[in-house]
Amino acid sequence: MKDFRGKVAVITGAASGIGLALAERLAQEGMTLVLADIEEPRLRGVADAFSARGVPVAALKVDVSDADQVEALAALAYDRFGAVHLLCNNAGIVPAGRFRPVWEFPLEDWKWAFDVNMMGVVHGLRSFVPRMLAGGEAGHVVNTASIAGLLSGAGTPVYGAAKHAVVRISEALYASLEERGAPIGVTILCPGLVQTRIYDSERNRPEALVPDGGVAAETPDMHAAIIKLGPGALPPAVVADMVVDAVAAGQLYCLTTDAFDAAIRERNDAVIERRNPRFANLLALTQDESGKRLKS
Ligand code: NAI
Repeated sequence: MKDFRGKVAVITGAASGIGLALAERLAQEGMTLVLADIEEPRLRGVADAFSARGVPVAALKVDVSDADQVEALAALAYDRFGAVHLLCNNAGIVPAGRFRPVWEFPLEDWKWAFDVNMMGVVHGLRSFVPRMLAGGEAGHVVNTASIAGLLSGAGTPVYGAAKHAVVRISEALYASLEERGAPIGVTILCPGLVQTRIYDSERNRPEALVPDGGVAAETPDMHAAIIKLGPGALPPAVVADMVVDAVAAGQLYCLTTDAFDAAIRERNDAVIERRNPRFANLLALTQDESGKRLKS
C-alpha cells in the first residue's frame, strides 16, 4: 500500500504510546482515522484534538479481547467511512512481575496476556479482513508483536508467548493473502524498547483477572532497572515513521532495533543445528539497547 491520502486507517490502542504516534503520523499522511482504546476519556481527548485540526476521525471505546466489541468497531468504520485500508492491531499489555520463572505466573496473567495481545489481533483479523477483501482495494494490516515475539529465554515468558503467537498468526495471514493474490500487505511490528506507558499496563487489568493475593509487584531492583531504561527508549514517533516506511515498502518484518539480532540468530541456529541454545538475559539485552541509544 503506497497511497495513504484519503484512505481509512483503524488503530487499536490509539490513546497512548505507539498507537497514538501512529495516529499522528497517519493523520499527517492525510488518512481518515478510526481510533479504538479501552481508556475512554483519553481516547475522547485524542479524537477531539484530531477533529479540531480538521482530521476526519471516529472513535469507539473497545476492549479488543471482546470479539463483539471489535466487530462493533468494524461496523462503525464501514458505516461511517465505507472502507478500511490500513488496520493496525496494536493494543497490548504486559502483566507486572515479568521476570518470574514461567511456572510462577498465575492463570489470570496468562488469560489477560493472551486475551488482549493474541486474541485482540485474532478479533481484528476476523472482523476486518473479510470486509477488506470484499472491498477489493489495496490495503495493509499491521500487527504489533514485539522483539519478545522473536526471541526466547527465561524473561517475560507469558507476554513473550503471546507475542510469538502474534508473529505466527501474522505470518499465516501474509501467506494466505499471498496465495490468493490479494492486494493486502502485512507488517509485523516488532519494537524493542519504546517510550510509552506499557510498563504501567496494570492500569487496564480487568477486575475479574486480578489473581488471589493481588497483582505481583515489581521487585525494587526491577523497578529501578525499568526507570533507568526509559531515557534510552525509542520515541514512539520514530516507530510510527518506521511503520509507514514498512507499509509503503510491503515489508513483513519491521524490527525497530538490531540490538537483539544476535539472540534471535542464536535461537534459530540452535534449532537448525539440533543443539541446545545459549539464551541471553533479556533484561541485559534491553539495558544494552537503551545504553547504546543514550551514547549515540
Ligand atoms: P501504551 O500502554 O502506551 O499503549 C497501549 C494502549 O493500548 C493504551 O492506550 C491502552 O489503554 C490500550 N489497551 C490496553 N488494553 C486494551 C484492551 N484490552 N483493548 C483496547 N485497548 C487496550 O503501550 P505501547 O507501548 O504503546 O503499546 C502498544 C503495543 O506495542 C503493544 O502491543 C505492546 O505490547 C507493543 N510493544 C511495546 C513495546 C515498548 O517498549 N513500549 C515493546 C514491544 C512491543
